[in-house]
Amino acid sequence: MNPKVKIAPSILSADFSNLGKEISDLDKTNCDYIHIDVMDGHFVPNLTIGPDVIKSIRNFTNKMFDVHLMIDPVKKYIPEFAKAGADIITIHQEISEKLMDSLSLIKKLNKKVGISIKPKTSPKLLEKYLDHVDLILVMTVEPGFGGQNFMHSQLKKISTVKKMIEGRNIELEVDGGINLDTGREAINAGANVLVSGSTIFKSKKYNNIIEALRNL
Ligand code: DX5
Ligand code: ZN
Repeated sequence: MNPKVKIAPSILSADFSNLGKEISDLDKTNCDYIHIDVMDGHFVPNLTIGPDVIKSIRNFTNKMFDVHLMIDPVKKYIPEFAKAGADIITIHQEISEKLMDSLSLIKKLNKKVGISIKPKTSPKLLEKYLDHVDLILVMTVEPGFGGQNFMHSQLKKISTVKKMIEGRNIELEVDGGINLDTGREAINAGANVLVSGSTIFKSKKYNNIIEALRNL
């Protein structure tokens, strides 16, 4: 077992008609976080779920909810996501609002603060936020949909971010197209949290695939 690698199943690929059961099933596994993708049809070309759904699944597990907000504007919604039961709240660097305001708000609400960058965004743009975040999420697909192919062009960025955060207590999460092969490449490049949707949910035994991903 590799204790350094954390696994965050993305429920975007779960059976939404049975979401409570899916969360209970994940609760029985050794996964670390439950990754929840929130999309607004504006920042990304897809719509998913909001705080009410998060609140409704909160009672099914004590695992940390890793909430990935692909929405713009975001600030006015942050208190609702905090109240709904988010533990980590990640916002995107590319939004039109001032980032620092939202990062401070997440911290003020006693939640872990995350910042994410899309594939075309330079990691340099993260530098000024390093004192204010607990987690950096490097997207390895264009955000919007599960089941896309991992962009190998992002491996270099993962290594760059890994160097940038050296000596700091910041997690490095990757999201998009993670399977047993690309997961290994991402870990070798420096990631310590793997988000995985389709790879986990298309597998019959969630814990087996979660442990396989952790032990790459
Ligand atoms: C994509 C989402 C991902 C997605 C990953 O925009 O942020 O979390 O669910 O799905 P897979 O693992 O299938 O690429
Ligand atoms: Zn995500």
